[in-house]
Amino acid sequence: MKITFARDEADFDLIAAWRIIGQILQKHDSVIGLSTGNTTKGMHTIVSAIYKKYPFDVSGITLFNVDELTNLPREYSGSCYSMILHEIAGPLGIQEHNFIMPPTISDDFTAECRLFEKRLEERGGTDLQILGIGLNGHIGINQPGTPFESETWISTIGPETDARVRRDLNIPKEIVIGGLTRGIKNIMSSRKIILAAKGEHKAEIMAKALLGPVTMDVPASVLQLHPDCEVLLDAAAASVIKSITRNI
Ligand code: GLP
Repeated sequence: MKITFARDEADFDLIAAWRIIGQILQKHDSVIGLSTGNTTKGMHTIVSAIYKKYPFDVSGITLFNVDELTNLPREYSGSCYSMILHEIAGPLGIQEHNFIMPPTISDDFTAECRLFEKRLEERGGTDLQILGIGLNGHIGINQPGTPFESETWISTIGPETDARVRRDLNIPKEIVIGGLTRGIKNIMSSRKIILAAKGEHKAEIMAKALLGPVTMDVPASVLQLHPDCEVLLDAAAASVIKSITRNI
């Protein structure tokens, strides 16, 4: 694993944005997997701003998100589809057929998971996958305990996200909000992965994921086995790793 230490949040967002743009410039038909959340919003905004000022060719690229919420409207501002659309796919003018997302509502999510994978496979697989990390070490929505051989599936979302979404949309308890996520096996098949984390609250889990054993209890630790994974950290997220390695 290669670790890149960004000075601060602004530096972090800029480095990540240039990784995405670099991938697009290097391969005009790149298939790029994104992630939603606070970690990635800034990088998406910068990619969009640079594109607006200095447009580059995005006509051949495919964008998708590593996961999606289920059983709520796609138009909900908190769906991954809406977030990626507003933050980056829309500003870049990515055509609908090049923005591959599973639906949020379906009678047969198992078939939708397979179709999602098939569509990505038809494009030649993932060139670059950007990942965030959950406080419990989850990647995508693969929670601790998920087998490394897992393939795109419907997982459970954490209690905080569940509560927020229910509050926002007034969803009754009977409806189970799930998370359609690429499985760990699918994520690991990406040719390049960038695991990005910023903020002090991510410092502890990043130390576990990078310096601890490879274990299902910390899903992100599997990335230690990936042949081309870069970890991007701002100073706050790197603090525990730096204090541990300082003493080695
Ligand atoms: C959610 C998403 C993940 C994301 C993670 C971190 O669980 N499904 O894909 O990586 O949150 O989010 P944040 O960047 O807001 O901390």
